[in-house]
Amino acid sequence: MIRVDDLKKTYGQHVAVDGISFQAAKGEIFGLLGPNGAGKTTTISIISGLLEATSGTVTVDGRTMSPTASSVKKVMGVVPQETALYEELTARENLRFWGGLYDMSGSRLKKRVGEVLELIGLIDRSDDAVKTYSGGMKRRLNLGLGLVHEPRLLLLDEPTVGVDPQARLSILDVIREAARNGTTVLYTTHYMQEAEELCQRLAILDHGKILAEGTVDELKKMVGEGEIVTVRGSFTAQQMHQALEGHPHVHAVSLEDHQAMLSVAGDGGTARLLQDLLGQDLEVNGVNVQPPSLEQVFIKLTGRELRD
Ligand SMILES: Nc1ncnc2c1ncn2[C@@H]1O[C@H](COP(=O)(O)OP(=O)(O)O)[C@@H](O)[C@H]1O
Ligand SMILES: [Mg+2]
Repeated sequence: MIRVDDLKKTYGQHVAVDGISFQAAKGEIFGLLGPNGAGKTTTISIISGLLEATSGTVTVDGRTMSPTASSVKKVMGVVPQETALYEELTARENLRFWGGLYDMSGSRLKKRVGEVLELIGLIDRSDDAVKTYSGGMKRRLNLGLGLVHEPRLLLLDEPTVGVDPQARLSILDVIREAARNGTTVLYTTHYMQEAEELCQRLAILDHGKILAEGTVDELKKMVGEGEIVTVRGSFTAQQMHQALEGHPHVHAVSLEDHQAMLSVAGDGGTARLLQDLLGQDLEVNGVNVQPPSLEQVFIKLTGRELRD
């Protein structure tokens, strides 16, 4: 449905997007997960035609996208990071105005505005001015604006940043519903957990490059299928490295002085490892055991944590 080939964007010497390629099918929710500055907004802006790429192509339903390709733009709904609402107007008026920009009118527009108000849960407040809304309500309306013309491709740039947990859940539900109705969704976030909950497939983006791509399960397999054991203490990386030598079922995801993240395979493997570490002269003062997560995938790929 959408296909991005070797997309690049440079600002002078600075490479914001460095040759990224991916595809998403009809009705799929595809995620771009990466920290601030990874190139998410730049990528979304190029796809939506707000920015021109330095090189590379974007095709939507086989048609090539460019800032002047207005027929391609019409199949897209764009939800920017910042809300773009008329505060003096009501939710219904904002939606009607936006639908009008996409050549909708009359009973079709009226019906669709009602559906979207229902979908985003604002039907009860639909005739109040937007300036009286909470932050979460404004975010939901912002999402509604991107949906009013029933886009085949929905582009969302971190739509849940700064919203309360309840509004966040309802935003994710609206996105899932749009995808169920056949809309392809391209979703950017720096929240691991959100990417994990929402996206069927995702790409991990850092410094303008895709480091890995796949389903959440495929990505997690990169750090092994067992448990992830994080050990902290006053040991050196070298000491831990030696201590692990007799443990072929243990693989170091990251190993630094005072902290090791280990992937441990097999039943009872973690218990055997911990017994052994404690039996040696390693000073261990904290242990955390978890199933594999995207966070660990990110650490393995970049050597650092993805924090807010
Ligand atoms: N207009 C611009 N001029 C120069 N550099 C930019 C511009 N826009 C973005 N960048 C840089 O490009 C990189 C990617 O930015 P962006 O796409 O906004 O990342 P993200 O949305 O993942 O946080 C960053 O290093 C950012 O500073
Ligand atoms: Mg951004």
